Amino acid sequence: MSARQSSATAPAARTFAWVPGSCAGEAQALGGFLRALELPASDAGRHADAFERLRAGDLQAILVHGVYPRAALSRAVDRLERNEPGFLQTWFPERFRAWFYGRNLNLADPALPGYFDEAARFQGQLETLFAPLPGIESHVGRLLASLDRGRPFVAAPGEQPGARYMFTTLRAHLEGGFIPAHFDNEQRLRESFRHLRSVVELHTTSFVLALSMAEAGGALEVFDLSVAPEEARLISDDRARDKPDVTRLASVSFRLPPGTLIVLDSGRLLHRLTPVVGAGKRWSACSFMALARDGAATYCWG
Ligand SMILES: [Fe+2]
Repeated sequence: MSARQSSATAPAARTFAWVPGSCAGEAQALGGFLRALELPASDAGRHADAFERLRAGDLQAILVHGVYPRAALSRAVDRLERNEPGFLQTWFPERFRAWFYGRNLNLADPALPGYFDEAARFQGQLETLFAPLPGIESHVGRLLASLDRGRPFVAAPGEQPGARYMFTTLRAHLEGGFIPAHFDNEQRLRESFRHLRSVVELHTTSFVLALSMAEAGGALEVFDLSVAPEEARLISDDRARDKPDVTRLASVSFRLPPGTLIVLDSGRLLHRLTPVVGAGKRWSACSFMALARDGAATYCWG
């Protein structure tokens, strides 16, 4: 079996399949290695130290349920299916069978031509997705801030005054769509991060907000393999050598119901998206996050 197949679809040595409620109330070590905490969105204020614990390595994942009501989520997915807001559409590499609304920084042209104009337009459209409820940037930003003692979560500032990176991107994974195993810290090795890496700390985390669920598959699978924030290397690239052999690792898989958000220490932990099964798309919003160098905010980008 080639390393490439292995990091894409080969099974882990053993997998703990999370279901809602597996770690409700207090943190549990899922699969014996992944300390996770699960809470309803309405309880976020009672877990103001959650991000502190994540940065300290005491937690690896935070799951928040009920970020938007079910009816609002189905309305939003219906708008996405028709692209009612008129979002910019961009693509993953073809074999991943997925696209974005918005532009993923990792896959962007290194010089970011037109990116900040696209970002300004995209952010405005994004605020309308859940109307009349607040949009993802304001609503999820506030939720995350309440898990970090009120420290704001905002779109990272660009180099020019007033320019901002996209707070998030929306992702549609089609039947058979997947993402091979990787660490999110490899992003900062890419040239499109030249400016961003000068304004953020090394430690990168991410969130996924599930908007819809695949019939089966489409799980965020996290492996028992971690690296330090400074040990970035490109392994999602086809040309990369010495990819971790996932068949020797334990894992925890998360099939997120609509309205559930996971914050994952994805800069440190190896993870992948397992292939989507069934004709329904797996819709999600996904952002990366790192503390601003001055610690005054957490900067987010898609
Ligand atoms: Fe990732």
